[in-house]
Amino acid sequence: MVSKPAPPVTLVIFGATGDLTRRLLIPAIINLTRSGLVGKDLEILGVGIEEGNDEFLRTRLDEFLSHLNSGGEEETPKDEAWFSLRSRISYLSGDFTKNQIFEEIGRRIDPAGNAAFYLAVPPSFFGPIVEKLAEHGLMTESDNCFRRVAIEKPFGTDLASARALNAQILARIAESQVYRLDHFLGKETVQNLMTARFANMMIEALWNSNYIDHVQITAAEIVDVGSRGKFYDATGALRDMVPNHLFQLLAMIAMEPPNSFDAEAIRNEKSKVLKALRIYTVEEAEAHGVRGAYGAGTLNGNQLPAYRETKDISSESRTETFVALKLYADTWRWAGVPFYLRTGKALTARDTEIVITFKKVPFAQFRETDVTRRLPPNRLVIQVQPDEGMSMEISIKTPGQSVETVPVSLDFRYADKFDIGHTTGYESLIYDLFIGDQTLFQRADSIEAGWAAVQPFLDAWAQNMSVPDVYAPGSMGPASADELIRRDGREWHELGVLLHAQRT
Ligand code: BG6
Repeated sequence: MVSKPAPPVTLVIFGATGDLTRRLLIPAIINLTRSGLVGKDLEILGVGIEEGNDEFLRTRLDEFLSHLNSGGEEETPKDEAWFSLRSRISYLSGDFTKNQIFEEIGRRIDPAGNAAFYLAVPPSFFGPIVEKLAEHGLMTESDNCFRRVAIEKPFGTDLASARALNAQILARIAESQVYRLDHFLGKETVQNLMTARFANMMIEALWNSNYIDHVQITAAEIVDVGSRGKFYDATGALRDMVPNHLFQLLAMIAMEPPNSFDAEAIRNEKSKVLKALRIYTVEEAEAHGVRGAYGAGTLNGNQLPAYRETKDISSESRTETFVALKLYADTWRWAGVPFYLRTGKALTARDTEIVITFKKVPFAQFRETDVTRRLPPNRLVIQVQPDEGMSMEISIKTPGQSVETVPVSLDFRYADKFDIGHTTGYESLIYDLFIGDQTLFQRADSIEAGWAAVQPFLDAWAQNMSVPDVYAPGSMGPASADELIRRDGREWHELGVLLHAQRT
């Protein structure tokens, strides 16, 4: 199906001079312009606290794009598409908490035209900006024009604050106008999860507790906390990654087939799974969750100070930089199948993956041979990033007279088959915002269901005065994470193992 160009729209970006705008939003819009999915009828109005006129923002972005060019690590986005877009960028400086700026926005946008407001601002502004937009009539839609708001993460910091933020927003505008972003849903491999499942009988037929032993979802990063100390120490690995990114992966893996590919049908199924996540007691959360913080050591050949010694981090900090959880989705399909989740910083590899481990075969034909003991279960490894692809691990007989089996891997890598080029991961999200497709955005009830499932861990760790377990930078996390899964007779999938295998 060929995508149609987006309708005419004014994109108002709050936080136009910030990092997100220049690193992701503008490059994504340039890519969309290049591919013809947005046209010359897109206007961008940047709003920021810094003083300046239209040329101020254009030059800022120019400089940033030139920097990308000379850096060599990114493909150059500064071409005709940029120059055409550049002339349609304007800037408004002012205080987001004051009426004046909203009055000025009202004057700058066509009252009968489409507008999308993108909140690339700190979370404390989300609710107040939506209120002000609504008060000034800027969110009022008609048959001929839409008004939408895109909200970045984090959406709340716990269940109570997420509920309060949803209530504040939904008191002013309709759910159909709210586009809560999770950038993981912009990733090609994440969007492929539904196709992998629902377009392949041989996968979906086995997709239940009769055949699946357990699921592992990992988002490992090599990067450490670096200069993000202020944000990170108040957030931690659990809040930063689990109720949002990891739960989106879990929902795609565990959802029932939707009746159609309509946004609401898909969001209903995802929401049902998230609502089925078992809500632990605080004691159960203690038993099913492990947290760690990296100590001092060497990472990528460089000396890394311990997390607690990092700039802007208190030496008394109890914030985790690693978390591992064992969860259950209490549904017919997944009864008794554990979902092990882990994520952390300063680990051995950058590796976001989903590993589905199937149950072992009954061994009938191999009884009383050595093979029974060595026969590993089948695994499906979905490599979300980097080296996007999928591998199926199966056992085969080695050539020769005796019955010897070895596991082999059937591999598919996107890069071998397609020219995936350079994208930011925001292209489909921005395009969908313009065309009004909410499939890749989170609905209020899903957000709250996610927070409800992590709340017992937050409560347990707030009550428990112990500090996170220390792990060495460049490792796979703390030993306690291994114990969490080993006590069930299972092992974590080795981080970066496919990537290493590819390189050698
Ligand atoms: C962000 C988190 O949402 O996701 C970061 O705040 C994390 O801490 C990032 O590094 C990971 O995203 P990606 O796309 O680089 O895997």
